[in-house]
Amino acid sequence: MTEVAIVTGAAGGIGEAIVRTLAAQGVAVVGTGRSADKLERLAASLDTGMAFSHVVADITEADAPQRIVGHCLERFGKPNYLVNNAGAGAWAPVHATSDAMLDEVIAISLRAPFRLCREVIPYMSRGCAVVNIGSTFGIMGGMDGGIYCAVKAGLKGLTQTMAAQYGEQGIRSNLVAPTVVRTPMTEGAWDYPAFQRINQGLTPFYRDCRPEDVANAVAFLCSDKGEFINGQVLPVDGGWSTTRMINSRFLAQ
Ligand SMILES: NC(=O)c1ccc[n+]([C@@H]2O[C@H](COP(=O)([O-])OP(=O)(O)OC[C@H]3O[C@@H](n4cnc5c(N)ncnc54)[C@H](OP(=O)(O)O)[C@@H]3O)[C@@H](O)[C@H]2O)c1
Repeated sequence: MTEVAIVTGAAGGIGEAIVRTLAAQGVAVVGTGRSADKLERLAASLDTGMAFSHVVADITEADAPQRIVGHCLERFGKPNYLVNNAGAGAWAPVHATSDAMLDEVIAISLRAPFRLCREVIPYMSRGCAVVNIGSTFGIMGGMDGGIYCAVKAGLKGLTQTMAAQYGEQGIRSNLVAPTVVRTPMTEGAWDYPAFQRINQGLTPFYRDCRPEDVANAVAFLCSDKGEFINGQVLPVDGGWSTTRMINSRFLAQ
């Protein structure tokens, strides 16, 4: 039987890569986002035979979880996988973070994934999995991280409690934590040579993290190859967060 995944933020940089990778594995994907245009463009660009359907929804809206899961049930059946990928940040130090920034980032990046997990769990059974997209910022903190670091760390807590609670039923929950990836979210920053050099130079590999690197980790966890992996944080960062490696090419510049 065809497996089914819900992927939020499907038309974003990392989301699109996740959709393509899962669909290439034969998974039927329900993708969500706020822009019908972007989702339709994504659908049109997928290879024939890939099963994709989309829901236009602001995930902070009260009925978004029911609409998304309802669409999935109607179109493809019960979801095997939920990938909570949609997210947004607001960049400021703690002392300059307003209540409006706090509320917005919490609503998009923590409250909405929590509510979607709550909605999807009753339909899940042995072999199903939730993958939340966190960030190395949620593990290590980061300059001007403010609320972004806090919500990503909160997602880790959600992931771990779900791993404990639903692991007994064979439902796994894991968090994938990418380093900085070249996507619309970070677009302007790559114009600064220092930003580029730092992000390439603080790993043994001397290269950017690509959306496909993140998508491959997600696809692994959304497969029986990840069968005994539960409650984990998987950094996708070339080793940066564990080695604190400073590449010799970076030092030579
Ligand atoms: N890029 C990085 O450096 C990086 C590093 C670590 C972790 N991450 C995480 O990776 C995930 C994907 O980010 P990305 O880099 O691919 O960014 P992106 O290209 O900006 O994509 C973000 C996605 O989130 C969706 N989204 C935002 N607010 C929403 C809302 N209120 N309702 C519904 N959808 C909403 C957007 O949907 P629309 O299409 O409607 O705009 C978009 O598809 C995020 O959780 C981010 O925090 C990114």
